[in-house]
Amino acid sequence: MRVVIRKDYEAMSKTAAEIVARLVRSKPDCVLGLATGSTPVGLYQELARMCKEEGLDFSRVTTFNLDEYFGLSPDHPQSYRYFMNDNLFNHINIKKENTHVPDGTVSLDKVEEFCASYEKMIKEAGGIDLQVLGIGGDGHIAFNEPGSSLASRTRLIALEEQTRIDNARFFDSLDEVPRAALSMGVGTILEAKCCLFLANGRKKAGVVAESIEGPITSQITASALQLHPNTIAIIEEEAASELKRKEYYLYAEKMWKELGKSMI
Ligand code: PGA
Repeated sequence: MRVVIRKDYEAMSKTAAEIVARLVRSKPDCVLGLATGSTPVGLYQELARMCKEEGLDFSRVTTFNLDEYFGLSPDHPQSYRYFMNDNLFNHINIKKENTHVPDGTVSLDKVEEFCASYEKMIKEAGGIDLQVLGIGGDGHIAFNEPGSSLASRTRLIALEEQTRIDNARFFDSLDEVPRAALSMGVGTILEAKCCLFLANGRKKAGVVAESIEGPITSQITASALQLHPNTIAIIEEEAASELKRKEYYLYAEKMWKELGKSMI
């Protein structure tokens, strides 16, 4: 994993946006895997700015989101479809029909069929070129809670109590936070050609260190990224504070720069 450490949230978001923009420029019909939550908001703001001010063109880009709350309709203000429209899609020149978020309103008896069709759509689009990822307080990527198989595929998954508590800030009460979600699996994520793993905030420092430097375990599904051949972790300084090899990561980035090559 290539680990880069950035001094604050803004710098983390800018570096991430540069990587996404580079891909969009070199492959205008690329497939982006997108994430929700507070972590990627700054990245999306920067992409919106680049689209508006620099003409970064999303007209041929296709996107697939990692997950959606089970039971929330696309127009629910806390649905991930709503979040994506509000934070990114409404601010860039992407075609809405090329954006995909799992359908949280699918009926229970159609869930399996829906999840299989979501996987199929990703394959038919040519696979995900770059997958944006945050990390949950319990180490999850997408909604792959501890214990998720590292080979898991898109499916319905029960949310951990801690995840619901963490996300309750967006709802009127904890009771309103859905108990389950549709989520890409760890196996689905590992098939992306490149993963862009973002983390910020002191609260994430422990799980970030375990994911990057700890053993690969289904108890912290982000640790599965160690198996991925092309993951770039962009970690803000506070979230990086428990990394044991922090000095090495800083040194490696500097060394590549001195050699005239960007590590990312
Ligand atoms: P956050 O959520 O970005 O709001 O911290 C991350 C996650 O749960 O994956």
